[in-house]
Amino acid sequence: MAKLIGFKKKNIAVFISGTGSNLKNLIKHSFKKNSKFKIIYIISDNFNAKGLKYAKKYMIKKKIINYKNIKLAENKILIEMKKNEIELICLAGFMKILSNSFIKRFRGKILNIHPSLLPKYKGLNTHQRAINNKDKFSGCTVHYVNSKLDAGKIIIQKKVRIFKNDTNEKLAKRILKQEHYLYPKALKKVLINL
Ligand code: GRF
Repeated sequence: MAKLIGFKKKNIAVFISGTGSNLKNLIKHSFKKNSKFKIIYIISDNFNAKGLKYAKKYMIKKKIINYKNIKLAENKILIEMKKNEIELICLAGFMKILSNSFIKRFRGKILNIHPSLLPKYKGLNTHQRAINNKDKFSGCTVHYVNSKLDAGKIIIQKKVRIFKNDTNEKLAKRILKQEHYLYPKALKKVLINL
């Protein structure tokens, strides 16, 4: 009991653009007994992002941001982050690139999950590129976000075997499953020091 005195779960915002399976998984983890975080805000640049349904389902605040003007968009996000006392941002399938000034405001406090074994295959189409190169393994990485695309300090990685008859879809499915294992594990590591 004494251990719990003074402990406050960290406020996390998750940024998405699509399905939101990582978001859903993080929400579920946040409900676990020993969880050190709560997801209190969802940001999406995409009005049609399927993952937005989890905002309603789990009663989490959400905001859909019009990204026509990046500066305005990021200003709106920053206001919400401040108002809601967000301590850590988790990008999970968020398809927009954050500006340097935004990253500076949250230095060391933005995480991303990427579907490859970084530094290999930064950017898009990671699975197909790994298959085309006849790699034996691919995987996923959780890393800090810095000013260069998918190049921030690596927090944790998980290898996934590539089979001879693998397709983009098959490999993507197996890697996504590992992403769901990896992101909460990365958070555990990061939150100890936050
Ligand atoms: C994941 O593979 C993530 O690594 C990536 O986009 C996908 C998002 O999946 N960059 P979901 O929206 O969390 O289901």
